[in-house]
Amino acid sequence: MNLKNKTIIVTGASDGIGREIALRLAKDGVNVLLLSRDEKNLKLVQSEIEKIGSKSSYYVCDLKSLEDIKKTVEKISEKYKKIEGLINNAGIWQKKDNLENISDEEIINVLQTNLTGLVLLTKHVMPLLLLADEAILINISSRSGYFADNGQSVYAASKFGVRGFTEVLQKDLKETNIRVGGVYQGGTNTKLFEKAGEDWTKEKYNGFIPTHELAEVVVFMASRPKNVWLSEVRVESK
Ligand SMILES: NC(=O)c1ccc[n+]([C@@H]2O[C@H](COP(=O)([O-])OP(=O)(O)OC[C@H]3O[C@@H](n4cnc5c(N)ncnc54)[C@H](OP(=O)(O)O)[C@@H]3O)[C@@H](O)[C@H]2O)c1
Repeated sequence: MNLKNKTIIVTGASDGIGREIALRLAKDGVNVLLLSRDEKNLKLVQSEIEKIGSKSSYYVCDLKSLEDIKKTVEKISEKYKKIEGLINNAGIWQKKDNLENISDEEIINVLQTNLTGLVLLTKHVMPLLLLADEAILINISSRSGYFADNGQSVYAASKFGVRGFTEVLQKDLKETNIRVGGVYQGGTNTKLFEKAGEDWTKEKYNGFIPTHELAEVVVFMASRPKNVWLSEVRVESK
């Protein structure tokens, strides 16, 4: 899709990978709709996009809340008759442990953010995507959506869930204007792990994928011409 002047929603755009994707899309002239919970950080990303000379709007939305999702999509549809893309990127990590040691709250939090919220937002945005001539839906899962690693039962459940959701939508939407892709990346250089309480030293991040490199991959996927599509991309650091 030629990205110039298209309107694309990026979730989790206030930090990490989502922020980089938003900035990279803005460079290609996309009107980026930034979504996350933290208004202060969203405003910062918006001002960075302004400096690039592109347009954006931000929406404070907690993906754990169906009410927030509905209100956000309502606001978006008041302004836009169609949307050309949704990049479902927002997510949280679960600190590695055996299931019996993971609190009920954390289990609910991870599954609601990474899976239920993603599915609900996609459902509610779908009518706007279907109205575009051409649209993309890219779900950022994880390497943990592909391979089972010790201590990651809940995170893997959410990310394998995103993979299943993505693969079914690829079939269900085959005859429509929407092209669906999944991204399954390994460790990427963000604060995802610290936010989940992981006490990692800087050295642990050596060899992680730089966020701007991952954003490049996602924008490359989104910008493929009509007759070419990367339905599934696995990204590993060297
Ligand atoms: N970093 C890695 O190594 C890695 C590897 C594989 C997959 N991933 C996946 O990549 C995605 C992005 O992660 P990241 O590494 O960029 O993490 P990050 O830097 O912590 O960013 C996560 C983003 O998600 C948003 N978010 C979290 N909970 C939310 C909620 N309830 N509602 C709305 N937004 C929410 C955060 O914004 P607010 O706090 O403002 O809400 C933030 O913008 C996630 O899905 C993650 O699972 C990451």
